[in-house]
Amino acid sequence: MAKSKKGKERKAMETEGFEPGLPSPDVLPMASEPEAGPAGGTDDADAGSSLPEAAGESAAPTLDLQDQSVGAGASAADETDQAAPVEEANAEVPAERRIPDPAPLTTHGPARIIAMVNQKGGVGKTTSTVSLGAALAGYGRKVLLVDFDPQGALSVALGVNAYELDLTVYNLLTQSDCHVGDVILSTDVEGLDLLPSNIDLSAAEVQLVSEVGREHALGRVLAPIVDEYDIVLIDCQPSLGLLTLNALSASSGVIIPMETEYFALRGVALLKDTIDKVTSRLNPNLEVIGVLATMYDPRTLHSREVLQTVQQAFGDTVFQTVINRTVKFPDAAVAGEPITEFAPSSTGADAYRQLAREVLAR
Ligand SMILES: Nc1ncnc2c1ncn2[C@@H]1O[C@H](COP(=O)(O)OP(=O)(O)OP(=O)(O)O)[C@@H](O)[C@H]1O
Ligand SMILES: [Mg+2]
Repeated sequence: MAKSKKGKERKAMETEGFEPGLPSPDVLPMASEPEAGPAGGTDDADAGSSLPEAAGESAAPTLDLQDQSVGAGASAADETDQAAPVEEANAEVPAERRIPDPAPLTTHGPARIIAMVNQKGGVGKTTSTVSLGAALAGYGRKVLLVDFDPQGALSVALGVNAYELDLTVYNLLTQSDCHVGDVILSTDVEGLDLLPSNIDLSAAEVQLVSEVGREHALGRVLAPIVDEYDIVLIDCQPSLGLLTLNALSASSGVIIPMETEYFALRGVALLKDTIDKVTSRLNPNLEVIGVLATMYDPRTLHSREVLQTVQQAFGDTVFQTVINRTVKFPDAAVAGEPITEFAPSSTGADAYRQLAREVLAR
């Protein structure tokens, strides 16, 4: 249950072609052979549940971007795409690749503002926003999560009933007398706050169209509280419309969650094109912090090959951290808790803690 800052409890591409340097669709490998039998379909299985918890922080799969033959767990078993034991994949993580814990902070702010963007739907933007935010808060960072999607999924994922709220991001965008401090809710996770949204936000997009400086409305909303936080994460809607442009204008960095799936590459190429346009026309400080591979299944050849292609296409921009597909994530969302609270010792929680260290190190 989230509570307001004032202590009052509230229920709360297809691109025409690939950009230069990207492989053409023909180069993208397709797994022609059937996926591994019973272990292949992991949508309903916790891909990480068989992992030994003793593996600790290094349990999250870490990739060697230089070694193209590896592909996160690819081995001799690839030829037949036999289900590679997940333990085997973890055994490949060399200890020295563990990203060190960030130094504790004694003071807070000003915040680094990061947009979580991908115009493709259902790729893990909201899950990554809440999980990364909670993991960063676990490292002593003061984190504000901005629900910038009229679906309000981020608010729901934090146990907030956004439809019962009087004030949301919509009010901040459209009413000059509404102060951001009145809308921010604190959550059950220490150091983690939320700017909630609901369907009202879709009206804001229409209202903003006729305004001067319409792409900078969110930046103006966040300006008064930037010094109070270390990180602000903005969960964007699956489109490249005005709301997403606002998020990109307000941010210094972008994280692109990308489902480890064949068609995902095309969407990321289009998105990088948009980000380049925003950088040249609206926000010269904007840079891509990283591409995050999500919903990865180390037991399928398809996942491993797509991941390898993503690394070839985007190089070091791809985070070492890869998020496995596991049913723990939808379970955590239903429970209204970040994975780091819902299943703190799960491989999913480990992976987002590793991502948090990686983001802080970039
Ligand atoms: N690593 C994962 N493994 C399994 N399921 C996942 C994973 N990450 C996210 N999911 C689930 O996939 C669905 C879509 O995820 P999410 O809502 O985070 O995507 P999104 O990009 O924010 O979607 P949208 O574009 O609609 O906002 C959710 O049901 C979520 O619980
Ligand atoms: Mg979402």
